[in-house]
Amino acid sequence: MQIFDYKSTDLSKQLAQEYGYDEFLIRRYLTFFGQEETIQLLEANERPLKTSILVNTLRISVDSLKSRLESKGIKLEKIPWIPNGFWVLEAPFSVGATTEYLLGHYYLQEAAAMLPAFVLDPKQNEVVIDMCAAPGGKTIQLAQLMENHGCILALEVDLRRTKALRSNLSRCGVKNAIIFRMSALDLTQLDVQADKILLDAPCTGEGVIRKDPTRKKSRGPPDIEFCSALQTKLIDVAVNCLKEGGILVYSTCSLAPEKNELVIDYVIKKHNLKVLPTEIEVGESALT
Ligand SMILES: C[S@@+](CC[C@H](N)C(=O)[O-])C[C@H]1O[C@@H](n2cnc3c(N)ncnc32)[C@H](O)[C@@H]1O
Repeated sequence: MQIFDYKSTDLSKQLAQEYGYDEFLIRRYLTFFGQEETIQLLEANERPLKTSILVNTLRISVDSLKSRLESKGIKLEKIPWIPNGFWVLEAPFSVGATTEYLLGHYYLQEAAAMLPAFVLDPKQNEVVIDMCAAPGGKTIQLAQLMENHGCILALEVDLRRTKALRSNLSRCGVKNAIIFRMSALDLTQLDVQADKILLDAPCTGEGVIRKDPTRKKSRGPPDIEFCSALQTKLIDVAVNCLKEGGILVYSTCSLAPEKNELVIDYVIKKHNLKVLPTEIEVGESALT
């Protein structure tokens, strides 16, 4: 796949230096989004990430957890786009170290990362494949939406991350998932046709610069090329394992069109798929 790059300008050099980025990324942002939006993006990436939690309704109700956490001095604010998602506004200690966390009453997940499983909207009697599952935030969310019924096949290629996946699913009381430590590229070997598939694809993580600022400089064109090739193969496999009329949600934590719009463009043309509206009023439209 072609990797987009553009000419250096005084502005791209200046912004790269000021915000500490590889200039290659800035040249691309300026071309994709224009000057004003690029500066807004760079500024947004400087703001600290708000911690957020997803209440695990397999273990506790939203109201009970809220009152338990509030009695410990933890202040929460509802995330508008997810029924059981909350930002943590104030906490006297780490929210990853409470009894409620250890009991699996909630899971720490970024607010945007709560969207893909929610949009997939799995039902209780369905077969769902989570192709790249570890550490498991989205698998837990799928299980909640299915109220622990139906069946989730959760695949993960990395052994260490598979262990984290197993421990998270167990802590959160997920009972309808089977974990496969294997490459999703070999998914057809399982001979399963799913009602719904979540492909939360591995990527270079340009979208998580707020959490990991090293990514301002650590990923270049070869990384984009590698990920984009892998994502294209994975999405092809996904379509082949989907029932007629089934639904596939593809998500990444990247801004690169080579890993988003171009992968979608490739797959809809190759397999004659239809893009469905998400009916969620958050975020920006994709590039066309
Ligand atoms: C973006 S993360 C998934 C996050 C996960 N969905 C969650 O919500 O916690 C991508 C995952 O894909 C895994 N992965 C990479 N290549 C894979 C492959 N060929 N088959 C299955 N998993 C793969 C990575 O090890 C990583 O754990």
